Amino acid sequence: MKITIGSDHGAVELKEEVKKVLAEFDGVEVKDVGTFGKESVDYPDIAEKVCADVVSGESERGIVLCGTGLGISIAANKIKGIRCALCNDVYSAKKSREHNNANVLAMGGRVLGFGPAGEIVRAWLTTEFEGGRHERRVNKIMALENK
Ligand code: RB5
Repeated sequence: MKITIGSDHGAVELKEEVKKVLAEFDGVEVKDVGTFGKESVDYPDIAEKVCADVVSGESERGIVLCGTGLGISIAANKIKGIRCALCNDVYSAKKSREHNNANVLAMGGRVLGFGPAGEIVRAWLTTEFEGGRHERRVNKIMALENK
């Protein structure tokens, strides 16, 4: 599975930690679209880069990070085809896959410690979409894009 990851300046350290967690998984390839330093950047630009890869199919999933995870998740969810879940706990991360088929995970570098963030990433990566009644609901979410 290929994953595109990106963060603004508020989560550069968390991005490096998440990449270490992703390296635990055989068969996971990571593309990092930045940012790479402490200089201020605008999180919608990062969301756009990550989500472009998910929408085009270059990557199966995306991970977006900013200070709170809020701005970048809001931006990601404006992009057609994206179901971005802001997760600050493992339960939400699992449910975002089982029920919402989230294709992008958002987290906040100023909210989460590295340990909990790693557990969230592991849960999100290893949990499958349940389908069934959830598929109907996810289809309704996606239909909202065309209204
Ligand atoms: C940047 O200072 C900060 O606003 C951003 O990282 C994020 O928290 C926005 O939602």
